Amino acid sequence: MKRIHFGLMGAGGFAREVMPYVRASVSKSINCSSEEIELYFVETWEPKVSTVNGYPLVSLTDFSKLPGHKYFNVAVSDGRAREELVQAVGGSAEVIQIHAPQAVILEANEIADGSILCPFTAVTSNIRIGRYFQANFNAIVGHDCVIGDFVTLAPSVNCLGRVHIGDYAYIGTNAMIRQGAADKPLRIGTGAIVGMGAVVTKDVPDGATVIGNPARVMSK
Ligand SMILES: CC(C)(COP(=O)(O)OP(=O)(O)OC[C@H]1O[C@@H](n2cnc3c(N)ncnc32)[C@H](O)[C@@H]1OP(=O)(O)O)[C@@H](O)C(=O)NCCC(=O)NCCS
Repeated sequence: MKRIHFGLMGAGGFAREVMPYVRASVSKSINCSSEEIELYFVETWEPKVSTVNGYPLVSLTDFSKLPGHKYFNVAVSDGRAREELVQAVGGSAEVIQIHAPQAVILEANEIADGSILCPFTAVTSNIRIGRYFQANFNAIVGHDCVIGDFVTLAPSVNCLGRVHIGDYAYIGTNAMIRQGAADKPLRIGTGAIVGMGAVVTKDVPDGATVIGNPARVMSK
């Protein structure tokens, strides 16, 4: 039997929430039997323990040396940290999407490499999503949204239709983002942070943190 090695970068809380559905997702994506897949948590440093939740925890150096075909994804919620980990993996493994079986993807969507869709997320229709997107439990992306690279939606985010989200933006738990118009999408800037529970009714500037209902830029 051939061995397929899958490394999930990160061994923190989010990674431990993602690992339980990795096997089913990888098996479906590359059309192999689930018994052929060996799963690992992977860190960039030398791990202090050898297993996490019964899965081996290995360094990236050791993962890279494994024989046979290797796949990976990155389960770290900070977008910039995620990008650094992708660069650290380099060409040593091939990225693969991890979509929970309960994630709903409707029609005419483009989702670039590296996405993680947790259980009960929804990507509805006519949506474009950049590289290494993460949608945590119950997050919803509405029609005609355009989402950049390394964007993170925390649990239960409700991003209504025609919203454009810039690269590296982080949308906190239970945030609600009002719909944009066809000729004027609502824009969340590059690197912006939307605080948990915020109700966003207007554009958010690049790099700003907004909180509250209606959401306002947080004073330092
Ligand atoms: C908005 C956020 C990024 C600010 O973090 P921070 O810069 O560390 O801010 P602090 O915790 O120092 O809080 C500063 C003030 O803002 C308030 N505040 C923080 N987040 C807030 C929010 N989302 N809504 C309203 N007020 C908030 C704090 O109570 C504090 O008020 P005070 O000055 O009166 O004491 C953060 O609180 C947040 O919402 N993060 C998202 C968390 C999340 O969704 N996690 C998902 C894990 S899966």
